This record gives sequence, C-alpha cells and structure tokens, in this order.
Amino acid sequence: MTACIVGWSHGKFGKLDGETSESLIVKAASEAIGHAGIEPKDIDVIYVGNMNGGFVRQEFHSSLPLQTHPDLRFKPSTRVENACATGSAAIHMGLNTLAAGKARFVLVVGVEKMTELNSAQAGEVLIKASYVAEEADIEAGFAGIFGKITSAYFQRYGDKSDALAKIAVKAHRNGAKNPFAHFQKEFAYEFCRTPSDRNPFVAGPLKRTDCSPVTDGAAAVVLTDVGTALGMNQAIAFRAAQHVNDFLPMSKRDIIKFEGPALAWKKALAEARLDLLDLSFVETHDCFTSAELIEYEAMGLTAPGEGERAIHEGWVERDGKLPINVSGGLKAKGHPVGATGVSMHVMTAMQLHGSAPAGMQLDKAKMGGVFNMGGAAVANYVSILEPLR
Ligand code: COA
Repeated sequence: MTACIVGWSHGKFGKLDGETSESLIVKAASEAIGHAGIEPKDIDVIYVGNMNGGFVRQEFHSSLPLQTHPDLRFKPSTRVENACATGSAAIHMGLNTLAAGKARFVLVVGVEKMTELNSAQAGEVLIKASYVAEEADIEAGFAGIFGKITSAYFQRYGDKSDALAKIAVKAHRNGAKNPFAHFQKEFAYEFCRTPSDRNPFVAGPLKRTDCSPVTDGAAAVVLTDVGTALGMNQAIAFRAAQHVNDFLPMSKRDIIKFEGPALAWKKALAEARLDLLDLSFVETHDCFTSAELIEYEAMGLTAPGEGERAIHEGWVERDGKLPINVSGGLKAKGHPVGATGVSMHVMTAMQLHGSAPAGMQLDKAKMGGVFNMGGAAVANYVSILEPLR
C-alpha cells in the first residue's frame, strides 16, 4: 500500500442544464478538500481528468480548479486524457506523483459536460476514441464499435440478448437506489429485452437500454501517502493499481477476448495477493451491457464465452457472490467520460467507508475492485481498494 484516498466528493450525474465544466469542477474540488478536512493551501498538485474533444468549446481545463479558492493559485495543475479511462488516468498520475515524493496532498477532479451536444453529435466526439484510420466511419458513433464487438461475440458464442437485458435490469435496479445516478428508475426485463419505439436498436444487437447515456457530471478525490493518511478522518488505501494499454486498432486484436482488461486484472490481483472472489464487490466499466458481459470473463469470473452464467445465476447481483455495479454502473449512474473513473473510485471508497447512500450500501464491504476502460479495451485500469484501518 503506497497511497490512500482521504477525501472525496460526487455530484449528481445527469443532464445538468445551467452547469458548466467550470462550475462542476469548482464544486467537486471544494467538497473533496472539505471532506478530507484539509485547507486548499495544503494541496500540492492537481490533476483534472477531462476528455472533451469537442463536447464543450473550452478545451483548456487545467487551471479551472484554481477558481475554487485563492490559495490554489500557482499550484501545478495538469489536464489528463485517456478516453473513457480519463478519470483513472488522472488518479494514476496522482499516485505516481505521490510515489515520486513530489506531493503530500494531490487533488484529482474528473469532469465532463456532454449534453450541450445531442446524442448523434456526442457520438461523433466519442468515435474519436476509436482507431480513426479504420473504424471512425462506423454508424452510430462509439455505440457502433460495441455493436460490432457484440455481433462478433454473438457469432462465436450464440445470441446473448437475454443476458444483456438482465444486465440492464440489474444496473437500473441498483441505480434506482443511488441518488447520484443519472437514471433513478427501474426498467422491466421485457422492456429491456424487446425492441420497441421506446427501446430501439442503436447499433448491431444493442438497443438503447444496452447503452450508457450521454451525461454531465464531476467527482473528485484527495490522495495522500499512507503515513499522512493514518492521521486523517477517513482513509481508503490502494492495495493495487495497475494500468495496461493494448493496441488501438481492433484489427490487430481478437476484440472479444478483452486481453488488456484481463492482463490488468491479473496484475492487480497479483499485486494485491488476492483471488477475485476475495473482493466484496466490483465497479466495472459497463459503457454497454455487452462490455460488462465480456468483462466477467476478463476478470476471471467465468471462462470465455460463459459470461452469461454470472448474470443468469445471480452471482453479480447485490446479494450474489460478487456484486457488480451496485452503484448502477455507467448504464444507470451515467457516463460523463472524464469523470467516470473518479466516480468509480468514489463509489468504492464510500462503500468501504460505510457511508454509501442507504439502499446502496453493502453489508460486508471489505475490499473493492474498480475496472475503468478507455476505448474498446485499449486503456485499462484496475484498482483494488480497502480501508486503511
Ligand atoms: N438508456 C436508457 N434510456 C435512455 C438512454 C440510455 N442510454 N439514453 C436516453 N434514454 C431515454 C431518455 O431518458 C429519454 O427518455 P424520456 O423520453 O422518458 O425522457 C429517451 O430515452 C430518449 O432520449 P434521447 O436522448 O433522445 O435518446 P437517443 O436515442 O438520442 O440516445 C443513445 C440514446 C443510447 C443513442 C445515447 O444515450 C448514446 O449515444 N449512448 C452511448 C454513449 C457512448 O457511446 N458513450 C461512450 C461509451 S464508451
């Protein structure tokens, strides 16, 4: 263990009219510093996770947290980007900075303001996270990439639409209990399973209820070293933090194998000296329901092609042997891309601290896993967290 999360904040995710990435950053930063019980002057280094790419006209975000308080003026601050894993990338920069001994307190803010664009325009921005030379002309934006992956999976292993619908139902059932979630309502299995005007096909076999939404939001954490954390109000330690990048072109990989995510999990579990089922729960990157299905296999919960067992047999429900996405995941909580990785760490920290919202809190949350993914299994981050004491 080398570092801890000692303060956090999480705003409501959704279509936040009237907010800007600046207002979201300032609120998240201010609340996380307050939660850590430190003063703005105590922050040494800042990282801002923001993908942008045209969601908003303001591209240069690094100094916006300085607007939180005059004492943040002149602090070194950098924007970090790694597609949908931007939030975890920013946290990893914080961990590296602490490991290098270059800071005592690091503030990490993840933010995205996506809904100034409509879904089609947002898809045009998101497709920039594909290998543009070969993949950008696919229809339906980034959903088209996962539509293609899902079709390939169905071709190899059979139609898994029942499992995808159940994953969506689980996400929304959990999200209904999370006050921070974009969607706080349950969806019936028949609605998710059956194409309709209200649930049309978006890309390949993926229907609207298989997709994470276009969302605004921000979350923040304060990181410090273990020695300092011992004296803080709350401290959630990194037992492992691993990052694996794979080739960008899907043509260079067996895309339904998710080899990058699998390696990131393998390395993280080895670093933590744990088996997967030692974890009390996992927050995984369900940008699409089929991503969650394949991630069951990548994390080692089932053999390849058998991911559906995890949902059909109830293993990943709140009361299952490995609850997955009790926050509602990206599917129900929303996926403001630059904020998502930070949000996943905050949800996990809350669970481990015992301060998750009522209804979302698990009884026995001792050790939590986070998997955050940028692109189609390209930038892969796994964290394993546990309370410091
Ligand atoms: N899941 C469930 N319901 C959704 C939804 C989703 N992902 N997205 C929108 N809705 C609901 C809206 O709340 C709205 O409901 P209402 O009529 O009761 O208010 C209705 O569907 C229509 O919303 P709208 O925004 O017009 O839908 P859309 O068809 O334009 O967009 C998607 C739906 C799925 C295309 C869009 O959310 C999308 O592009 N998602 C993928 C984003 C993405 O690629 N992220 C990166 C992943 S790596």
